[in-house]
Amino acid sequence: MPIPTGMVSKMQKILKVVYPGTFDPMTLGHEDIVRRAAKLFDEVVVGVAKNPGKQPFFELDKRVQMATSVLSDCPNVKVVGFDGLLMHFVQSEGAQAVIRGLRAASDFEYEFQLAGMNRKLFPQVESIFLTPCEQFMFISSSLVREVASLGGDVTQFVSPYIKTCIQQKIQTI
Ligand code: COA
Repeated sequence: MPIPTGMVSKMQKILKVVYPGTFDPMTLGHEDIVRRAAKLFDEVVVGVAKNPGKQPFFELDKRVQMATSVLSDCPNVKVVGFDGLLMHFVQSEGAQAVIRGLRAASDFEYEFQLAGMNRKLFPQVESIFLTPCEQFMFISSSLVREVASLGGDVTQFVSPYIKTCIQQKIQTI
């Protein structure tokens, strides 16, 4: 049966999405979400938040550079740092939606609040949730940093380049 014309034009929409986070550093769980999003959407902008409130371990420029390096094989993904309101960044990029990863039920409450607040601020932008592969469900950047700083092996949780950056950073502290 032929697809109605209206439906075709909807399917052909160019969808640009922003995947925001602190990415301190980007883990294999984050990479998994980016790669899933890159298959679904035309353009994915990984928005690395300065997030001074979290007192990040890596400077913003380094977080952007690390994420850019590990995602260099994804042609429709770009990594951009931002400071300030997420919705202003999304507007400046001309994106239609925000992607967030949901690892467990415990993520839901915070994500629901964030999505609700963002919708109040800028109703045109949708929030879309993706789940990472089961093996990455328990990873978080702070746990990776803690394991590495205590001499544990983080090979299973981050790309080799990120592992090297963490080790170099730890040596300077
Ligand atoms: N794999 C692995 N870890 C994941 C993950 C995944 N798929 N998804 C989330 N995480 C982890 C992160 O590593 C992080 O762990 P950590 O706290 O141990 O470092 C935690 O889940 C959540 O971090 P992240 O996804 O980076 O989000 P965030 O909560 O640090 O930042 C922003 C969320 C950047 C989107 C939010 O702070 C923001 O919008 N900031 C801009 C200012 C603004 O607009 N504020 C108003 C918001 S309404």
